[in-house]
Amino acid sequence: MPTNFAVQPIDATFGAVITGVKLATVDDATLAELRKVWLQYGLLVFPGQFFSNAEQIAFAKRLGPLEFEMSALSNVKEDGTLRLEKDNDDRMKVLKGNMGWHMDSTYMPVQAKGAVFSAEEVPTIGGHTGFCDMRAAYAALDDATKAKVEKLQAYHSLHYSQAKAGHDTKKKADGSYNGYGFHDGPVPLRPLVKVHPETGEKILVIGRHAHNIPGLDKDESERFLQELTDFATGDPRRVYHHDWRPGDAVLWDNRRLMHRATPWDYTQRRIMWHSRLAGDPRSEIALNYEKEAAVA
Ligand SMILES: [Fe+2]
Repeated sequence: MPTNFAVQPIDATFGAVITGVKLATVDDATLAELRKVWLQYGLLVFPGQFFSNAEQIAFAKRLGPLEFEMSALSNVKEDGTLRLEKDNDDRMKVLKGNMGWHMDSTYMPVQAKGAVFSAEEVPTIGGHTGFCDMRAAYAALDDATKAKVEKLQAYHSLHYSQAKAGHDTKKKADGSYNGYGFHDGPVPLRPLVKVHPETGEKILVIGRHAHNIPGLDKDESERFLQELTDFATGDPRRVYHHDWRPGDAVLWDNRRLMHRATPWDYTQRRIMWHSRLAGDPRSEIALNYEKEAAVA
């Protein structure tokens, strides 16, 4: 079937810029083609979409069930004033925590499938989003390290990663947590090597939420996970940082890529919108939640 959109690969092991398509009104046949290109490239960048929130949610829903419809990632408060860096409130701590490499929702029972992410307002300097190809990273490991990681698992927790970023994730007076992703359930345990459910490729699953590899002592686990992250992100061919323009939308495969935010001049406004695609419980469930999923 001829496609009416253009695919311009990014100069990396993954990623492509797609032009000639308006996602808000894309037809089913073209969307099916885009899904294939997405699985191939892992990250698709669509300039000039200028999604309304409702359009973005509707588009994301066409890709499958959502983990959540829409979350604002922004230093602009609801009242329109700027969140100050020196206030260092919990939202700022979450924004800063996101500057560590990670995959979304590995700290939840079901890891996310992906995300639709768009830019409404962007700063003139900084605020790029980095992506790292964990399929290429796994493939580049030496045989001994491949054999080692194949046997290992790690716990994934947002309490852990935010605490490391200086965020005390205590409960509020009413017993609830302030923010998405903090929970009291078992800490999800995930293999370090995951087989992508749609491409069959092996992926290295690490990132800032990963910690306490069973069988290693804490320091050794920490050191090894950091070494793996440094290795994965250390080759520029596996990394791409997107410099946003207003109206850009991206679609990334969270089963393949790590990502991170980067700092910007916080006196400038940055408003981004994130819709999170739910992972398939059959392939994205944590090891220690499998029984519950089977019963449900
Ligand atoms: Fe994220």
